[in-house]
Amino acid sequence: MWSDSPVRVEHAELSGSELRDLRAVSARVATEAAELVRTRRVTGVGDVDTKSSETDVVTETDRAAERLVRDRLAELRPGEPVLGEEEGGGDDSAGAGLCWVVDPIDGTVNFLYGFPWYAVSVAAQVDGVSVAGAVVEPPSGRVWTAARGLGAELDGRPLRASAATRLETALVATGFGYQAARRQRQAAAVAELLFRVRDIRRAGAASLDLCAVAAGWLDGYVEQGLHRWDWAAGALIAEEAGAVVRLPGTDPEGIGAHTLMAAAPGVATELRTALVECGFGGL
Ligand code: IPD
Ligand code: CA
Ligand code: CA
Repeated sequence: MWSDSPVRVEHAELSGSELRDLRAVSARVATEAAELVRTRRVTGVGDVDTKSSETDVVTETDRAAERLVRDRLAELRPGEPVLGEEEGGGDDSAGAGLCWVVDPIDGTVNFLYGFPWYAVSVAAQVDGVSVAGAVVEPPSGRVWTAARGLGAELDGRPLRASAATRLETALVATGFGYQAARRQRQAAAVAELLFRVRDIRRAGAASLDLCAVAAGWLDGYVEQGLHRWDWAAGALIAEEAGAVVRLPGTDPEGIGAHTLMAAAPGVATELRTALVECGFGGL
């Protein structure tokens, strides 16, 4: 998977060394923020506020972690724009050129409860396409990384999606948004999917669910209504590990305009068909 050949992303051409630099910066700042998050989990998560609904929480630690990432990026990559969940920096769409995309804590509800499936996610996108990224887990210190065309790694070891070939024995993860009405529709679609697969997981952090597909810990993952910061790093990690990834907006007539799917290559076609039949397209 390792190569030095330049990668073309729309108008930009990035060399292997530029991609490695972007990956190194992603991993460095995400690791520093993860250390802050790990410490705060022990010393106190700080004030807890709600956002889009009573169940959509944000803690002082989310804001502190995003501030740290922004400050470090300003030092290491001065002048480059940043889109972050807590401070914004543009709408949820990608601007032209290079943009850093940050979820300071993905899996905030898990963080709040101490359920150890949450992460700091940092990605570099060019014209809206992820070219490098890192997902770092505060509880374990695990570091997931990828750069486009250069493969994906967990703590320096290469990742490969599973060799699953049958949907009925595939383990598939999903997630739900924070709005009750949307959840109800998502739950109905997932209920339809449940009897077509081995089982369903809802672990609570989109970035890590995508990393789990990259590692073969899951055979597939699907979620509707994610934001760019939820998937920017994880989707690249899954793709670079050989998973088939359909980003939101790329299959509007099939799985729907707002649905993201990632799957081991041997079950991707079958999973897509099942998602269409289960009604994901109409969510
Ligand atoms: C959430 C998590 C969750 C997913 C939600 C996301 P947050 O992110 O990734 O697993 O189901 O859709 O919003 O709010 O913890 O950063
Ligand atoms: Ca998130
Ligand atoms: Ca978050």
